[in-house]
Amino acid sequence: PKASKAKIVHLEPLRSQRVRVFGWVHRLRVQKGLIFIVLRDGTGYLQAVLTGTATQTYEALTLGLESTVELVGTLQVVPEGKTAPGGHELAVDYWRLIGGSPGGEDAFSTRVNEHSDPSIQADLRHLVIRALSVKLTPLTTSWRSRPPCLVQTQVEGGATLFKLDYYGQPAFLTQSSQLYLETCLPSLGDVFCVQESFRAENSHTRRHLSEYTHMEAELAFIDFNDLMTHIETIICETVDILLANPATAALIKQLNPTFAAPSRPFLRMSYEDAIVWLTEHGIKRPAEDADEKPILDENGQVLMVDHVVGDDIAEAAERQMTDIIGKPMFLYGFPAELKAFYMKKMPAKDGKTFTESCDLLMPNVGEIVGGSMRIEDMDELVAAYKREGIPVEPYYWFTDQRKYGTCAHGGYGMGIERFLAWLANRYTVRECSLYPRWPGRATP
Ligand code: 4AD
Ligand code: MG
Repeated sequence: PKASKAKIVHLEPLRSQRVRVFGWVHRLRVQKGLIFIVLRDGTGYLQAVLTGTATQTYEALTLGLESTVELVGTLQVVPEGKTAPGGHELAVDYWRLIGGSPGGEDAFSTRVNEHSDPSIQADLRHLVIRALSVKLTPLTTSWRSRPPCLVQTQVEGGATLFKLDYYGQPAFLTQSSQLYLETCLPSLGDVFCVQESFRAENSHTRRHLSEYTHMEAELAFIDFNDLMTHIETIICETVDILLANPATAALIKQLNPTFAAPSRPFLRMSYEDAIVWLTEHGIKRPAEDADEKPILDENGQVLMVDHVVGDDIAEAAERQMTDIIGKPMFLYGFPAELKAFYMKKMPAKDGKTFTESCDLLMPNVGEIVGGSMRIEDMDELVAAYKREGIPVEPYYWFTDQRKYGTCAHGGYGMGIERFLAWLANRYTVRECSLYPRWPGRATP
């Protein structure tokens, strides 16, 4: 029988059925040809038993703490007198190692424990939170503990970082909480946060703030299609909730009388198709010289040229496109060289590399969400740092995410002010911020 994919916390109604679960090996015991695993996915713990030939494979013999696995089997109630988390146990009939965890035994049972040196515990906080796992959940959800604003790593490129002196060390105001959210997947499961992000972008546009409210989420064991469907669901369900509430529905009606909930599924257009679409619709971009200075024509006007594959689709072109199409749309599959270092690549095509990335574009605003799948492989990530000129050392905690039980994962960030500008039909995001900050403006 087909096995349904479920998070551990949702297993109870699936007792005696065949289920498929994904997670990290929290505990491991080998006994008389049986392998007992306590699996952790951030929502809970599940006891699983491997029997027979499944225990004799190379993967089984080398399985270690904090490896990631897929387990499929029948969920059985534990017999009277025995205990297991949730009162059930998974009798595994198929399993697969997703990411190994070399050195996991040493890292997690020796270095990360309450007896280790406090400075080691502080350095390894990203591993300590795995051990705390579900004990953290009430803490993080009840008073909304959040990723830090003061950081020493970039996310979206060095050019837009606000740098500061941190007790004599270089530090930045965070551009995005993404890297931290990724490290929370093994302890908290799928996560989101609402946190400030800061961008030193010297662009005076309708949609750029220097400080904005960023709603970000990260999801484990998903694929690119799941990610886009998830973003679409979040947007549509949020709109439904706002329209179902008489007070917010009246406010939206007043601010944006023609607003209608978008219909699903959203249009999905690949970056390459968008280049063709722009050319067909006569939407051009300013020509630039090697120093990124605009090239002028014989009349002293900026020379406009067609887009070709490899070009950035800048704000002006993006806005013309969304205004013509007139409904939410995903643009996906941007070229790797235009995108951030951490993005997962699609298989190369005619020598070009595109990424599993997507922007959600809305009429009147353009991009309100940016998301992607992330590089899973440690060596590939280290090569990506190098290519981007990023020093490897400050990212050790982010790299460790791939070292100890990696997994397919992805996420996204939504600018709340941009979402509001779309919803309330505001000309600029500055109207959607209490005290907006833009280049040159930090008062009052
Ligand atoms: O596309 P961005 O730069 O993506 C990230 O930061 C990812 N690390 C997010 C993630 O995957 N967790 O930013 C995400 C969104 C944009 O789509 C936009 O809505 C908003 O953040 N945003 C801004 N809003 C206002 N002013 C700015 N300067 C913004 N820059 C980005
Ligand atoms: Mg973006």
